[in-house]
This record gives sequence, C-alpha cells and structure tokens, in this order.
Amino acid sequence: MSASTPCLLDGKTLAKKIQLELQAKIAQLEPKIGRPPGLAVLMVGDNPASAVYVRNKERACQKVGIASVGQHFPENTTQEELEEVIARLNQDDRVDGILVQLPLPKHLDSISLLRCIDPDKDADGLHQVNLGKLVRSEPGLRSCTPAGVMRLLQEYNITLAGKKALVIGRSILVGKPVALMLLEQNATVTIAHSRTQDLEAVCREADILVAAVGKPNMITQEMVKPGAVVIDVGINRVETSGKPRLVGDVDFEQVAPVASYITPVPGGIGPMTVAMLLSNTVQSYARKAGYTISL
Ligand SMILES: NC(=O)c1ccc[n+]([C@@H]2O[C@H](COP(=O)([O-])OP(=O)(O)OC[C@H]3O[C@@H](n4cnc5c(N)ncnc54)[C@H](OP(=O)(O)O)[C@@H]3O)[C@@H](O)[C@H]2O)c1
Repeated sequence: MSASTPCLLDGKTLAKKIQLELQAKIAQLEPKIGRPPGLAVLMVGDNPASAVYVRNKERACQKVGIASVGQHFPENTTQEELEEVIARLNQDDRVDGILVQLPLPKHLDSISLLRCIDPDKDADGLHQVNLGKLVRSEPGLRSCTPAGVMRLLQEYNITLAGKKALVIGRSILVGKPVALMLLEQNATVTIAHSRTQDLEAVCREADILVAAVGKPNMITQEMVKPGAVVIDVGINRVETSGKPRLVGDVDFEQVAPVASYITPVPGGIGPMTVAMLLSNTVQSYARKAGYTISL
C-alpha cells in the first residue's frame, strides 16, 4: 500500500459482519440454552451523549437477538442503590452481561461500582479481575474499545510484531488496555500523555499511531510518519456553521493522504466498540452454558 492511497479501516462494515456472525451463533445456541443472551445497561442521569450511546447499544442488541434490559436511574440515585441493583443482576440467571454507562454523576464512585460486577458478567471488560487477566495475557473479557481497535487491525491483516506503536492517552478505558493488547501482539509500544515532551517527534516515529485523547483534530499531517497506520479513537462534538458534528482526534483531511490505513470518525472505532460489547455478552452466555465459541 503506497502512502498516497490510504485505505479506510471501515469499522462500520466490520461491525455489521460481526453482528451477523453473533446473530447466527445466538440462533444456534438459543434452542439449546432455552433463552436468549441478556445484557443489562445501567444509565444514571441525563447526559445526552450517554443517552445516544445507550440507545445505539440497545438497538444493536435487538438486531442480533440479545435481550437488553435497559435501566435508567435518576441523577440523585445513591451508590448503595446502584450496588443493590448490580448485586441483583449478578444473581439473575437471565443476565450474561452488565454494563454501567460512563461517565457517572460526580457523587458516584465508578471504580467501586465496577468492582461490584461479577467479573464473568463484566461486558465492558473494566473489572480489575479482567484488567489483571489482560496484564497477564490470560483469556478473559477484554474492554470493548481496545478490543475493537485490535479486531479492526486484525481484519485488515496489519502486521504488528516488531512495529513501533504509539498510543496517545493512558486512560483505563482506552489507552492502557490498548497499549497492553498491542504489546501482546509483539509491537514495541510507547504511551504518550499530557506530560509527554515533543509529542510531534514521538508521533513521527510511530508505524502504528493510536490517538485516544479527546481533543478535536490534534493530530496533524506533520505528526504522522508517511505510511503509518492511524487509528482514531477520539469522539469529539464540534460545531461548524452552527451545525453539530463528530470529529476525531486526528485531522482526517490532512492525515489521510500520508497514512497507509486510517479510521474515519464516525464509522471507525465507535461501531467496533458496540460490536465487541455484543461479542463479550454472547461469549459469557455461551460459556455459562458450557459452550465454547470462537468469534
Ligand atoms: N470510539 C469509542 O467507542 C470510544 C470509546 C471510549 C472513548 N472514546 C473517546 O476517546 C477519547 C479518549 O477517551 P478516554 O476515556 O481515554 O479519555 P480520558 O480519560 O480523558 O483520557 C485522555 C488521555 O489523553 C491524554 N492527553 C490529554 N491531553 C493531551 C495532550 N495534549 N497530549 C497528549 N496526551 C494528552 C491524557 O493524559 P493525562 O493522563 O496525562 O491527563 C489522558 O491520558 C475521547 O474522545 C472519548 O470520547 C471513544
């Protein structure tokens, strides 16, 4: 692939393909197990972006045949009330996955809530047990956005072993797990963050560049090595001429001509994240009933 003809890493199309595969798996398993897979999505308060994400997840569940039990709680819900809800869902045999939509209102402690989720039902892969398994390269539920990045790279047969990979961002949600997953695939990984000096020079070294920052268009053409693979995890809402639209952390127009592969925003990692959430739920469902499935 020459640096002047970038290939779009089409997360939307791959996510659809994965959903069809999941639908077929569910159709095979449901008569044997006697119920569909179940995913509980807990949302607290009225964050409009979260409401959109939750709706998308519920729609995707419906399409593949996962029973999604959306639970919407008022802004002033207490930690104890949510812990009780999670404890009940942990015991509920119809529920295979539990997801707490982040961010939560400020008075709630998200880390301790995530800890209450049964690690085998941790659809978002953010429980410390599952993060620990990732550190040890043991099988376990993987966090959805990083898993979506890796699945997309795999789909396009992008070689990672021996490549210099740079992850910009070190959150538990994206940056750290994606760095560990790239390392697992034998990339030589660097993690950059807000204190990194001369980010531009660090970026220009990267064969694989993953941006997970949350700053619109911060990665410009000068920062990208010609022929690099560019993965844009960022989702930023901006207004152009009074119209709201979504952009990534990468200036797509500028960077696409120098990259070998690049993800669009929207249509890149966003749909892959939802596909991985469904995949985690179906894997938990199958495993609980004693079936091993490969996805
Ligand atoms: N596509 C999806 O499905 C999906 C899923 C999750 C998140 N996202 C998006 O991905 C982005 C990141 O999410 P997140 O939850 O990881 O965000 P986060 O928790 O706010 O982390 C952002 C990271 O970026 C680093 N950073 C901030 N400014 C920087 C700079 N100027 N140079 C280098 N690094 C800088 C921060 O460094 P410090 O640690 O030093 O502060 C931090 O590690 C957001 O746009 C979010 O909306 C997308």
